[in-house]
Amino acid sequence: MLDTSLIGKASDILRNGGIVVFPTETVYGIGASAYNDKAIRRIFSIKSRPHNNPLIVHVSTLEQVNLITTNIPKPVKNLMATFWPGPLTIILPRSSRISHLVTGNLTTVAVRMPDHPIASMLIRSLGEPIAAPSANRSGRPSPTNIEHVRRELGEDVDMVLDGGMCRIGLESTVIDMSTDIPCILRSGAITKNMIQSTIGQITLHNPSHEIIESKSPGMQYRHYAPNFRIIPVPPNTWVQTMHKWRNSNKHIGILCHQTAVKDESVSFYRHIPGTHEEYAKGLFAAFLDAETEHIDILLVETVPEQGVGIAIMDRIRRAQTYDK
Ligand code: TXA
Ligand code: MG
Repeated sequence: MLDTSLIGKASDILRNGGIVVFPTETVYGIGASAYNDKAIRRIFSIKSRPHNNPLIVHVSTLEQVNLITTNIPKPVKNLMATFWPGPLTIILPRSSRISHLVTGNLTTVAVRMPDHPIASMLIRSLGEPIAAPSANRSGRPSPTNIEHVRRELGEDVDMVLDGGMCRIGLESTVIDMSTDIPCILRSGAITKNMIQSTIGQITLHNPSHEIIESKSPGMQYRHYAPNFRIIPVPPNTWVQTMHKWRNSNKHIGILCHQTAVKDESVSFYRHIPGTHEEYAKGLFAAFLDAETEHIDILLVETVPEQGVGIAIMDRIRRAQTYDK
């Protein structure tokens, strides 16, 4: 695990315009000082990220939120008090302190206070917010352990802080609080019900809704796709599914959850039993591990779309769009 003296070194790098990969409770982030445009440009370039896809600004204090936004209405204060630090990103009107580069020219900014000792220490040590997208190249699954970070980004960053495996494994819930009716733009571990019990009625982003699409530019892109095809498998259909694929000429992988599928013939096998939260935690890591086995197809067990299951199914669907 981490030697805390490394935090000082990492914040010096950020202060001098460098790029540091750091762990959060959700996934690893590739970070730069939110106030350094040159470093922000480098993040876009390393990720090959389209410039209209804005970054999340990570804070460690509410004063930092006050600096980068214009005003914080009561319901937003309630959200922050309830879920921060934690995996909830809040979209608010931006102040002029934050550059157009970070916000992709939008009038809003995405803010989040991560719940991870290394992330919080790093922001505190820098004394400035850190803009950080997930530490993957654009369109790829987000890394949740250090091996996957290194494989994805290699030598392109100035420093990598090792925090072991991320506790949640899926990116934060993104909620737009800049509109009259709050709307979840990306599902995560903090669910619609959890948010509604704090601030009342909200809506859930519908991917076919054009206005929302243009509001959260990141949602337009193919996401989380590994280098093989993904086929979702409802738990009660494993027998037929294995019958269909076992004797095909494809290299098959299995990622199962409630069902301990038994099959000796596959090239990659991962069983993540337990709760849906445990499945969520291991999902991207399984995708990235499966890549090294050179499979053609990964059969992935589905979960009911409730609670964190909504976020799990969202990521499985997005990963499916890869066309080999
Ligand atoms: O868990 C997480 O959120 C991780 C860790 C590192 O904090 N970060 C992360 O960042 O997932 P990224 O850049 O991979 O995803 C940010 C998402 C994108 O879909 C982006 O379009 C959206 O948030 N976003 C950022 N700023 C926005 C804004 N002002 N309005 C609407 N959507 C925004
Ligand atoms: Mg991302």
